[in-house]
Amino acid sequence: MSTPTPSDLDTVKARISEQIAASETLAALDAVRVAALGKKGEISLMMRGLGKMSADEKKVMGPALNGLKTELSGQIETRKAELEARALDAALASETMDMSLPVGRPTGTLHPVSQVMEEMAVIFSDMGFSVAEGPDIEDDFHNFTALNFPPGHPARDMHDTFFLNDGERVLRTHTSPVQIRTMMSKSPPIRIIAPGRTYRSDSDQTHTPMFHQVEGLVIGRDIHMGHLKGVLMDFVSAFFETDVDVRFRPHHFPFTEPSAEMDVRYTRDGDSIKIGAGDSWMEILGCGMVHPNVLEACNLDPEEYQGFAFGMGVDRLAMLKYGMPDLRDMFAGDPRWLAHYGFSPLLQASLESGLS
Ligand code: DAH
Repeated sequence: MSTPTPSDLDTVKARISEQIAASETLAALDAVRVAALGKKGEISLMMRGLGKMSADEKKVMGPALNGLKTELSGQIETRKAELEARALDAALASETMDMSLPVGRPTGTLHPVSQVMEEMAVIFSDMGFSVAEGPDIEDDFHNFTALNFPPGHPARDMHDTFFLNDGERVLRTHTSPVQIRTMMSKSPPIRIIAPGRTYRSDSDQTHTPMFHQVEGLVIGRDIHMGHLKGVLMDFVSAFFETDVDVRFRPHHFPFTEPSAEMDVRYTRDGDSIKIGAGDSWMEILGCGMVHPNVLEACNLDPEEYQGFAFGMGVDRLAMLKYGMPDLRDMFAGDPRWLAHYGFSPLLQASLESGLS
């Protein structure tokens, strides 16, 4: 090979530029790149030839070859970007997705318990509550002692507790231990609900060994019984989506003082139950002002802070609202029951669009 001159380079450049422009695919373009700039490419070989040139020739050809290499690399990059953009456009044009197509009928449904918990979260979050959680497996301190059930207290026996084999841990018998966990990890003001599973060794037409509760807790400096009544009255009206008459009856819970149960007015119409009218009363929740001993167990000064708490059975409220006759069917996992009583997973409960 005779020593190339700068004018030879012009010819080479014109030829390769033309090949670059004529490349219609990324693969073709890459072949041109390899033939010109690859290890054994035309330009690379010419650069290797520099070593055999005289000093004067090198002075001219060195920069000329470098310039050519830079120029061609630039052209290749530009062409590459063009081809990539073209490939993307083609993909976008062919791989369309029609967002307006129907999704078909969803085969699964939302369990009424999930639906009701969702509805409760919507109502309480509108009142400024957030959702708190605690473990299903609890210890004696959180499930009982801190809630003012002293060791040996008869109320412990009434909970039909499932104990784990270690004799120390229990399946939580209520969601109230989440009160303790929240007060010990957050400082007031506190406004939470805690939905979740609870367990008691009990089974008949109105009891299942696993059931669901929603706990509520509000702690602040000037919280009183009026707040408790207002929140719960607003809740039941929103939940049953009608005006509901309620009454508070004195009761006893170790962790509240005073304590009450709240009843709603209802009437029976054949097999179904109508909430809001009639002259019967049905108990739906327990509530009260948080006991000073409970505040103290959580290192809160009862002289400074007060609050109220409430707890309700979700399964019963679901049965009442949606007219399901037997509690045990809820957890039998029968697809026919779910198809009948389940909710569309695509419709979200909201106060604007309606809860159910
Ligand atoms: N933990 C109670 C139970 O399972 C329900 C309850 C009653 C919760 C009163 C409360 C409350 O927070 O204030 O029977």
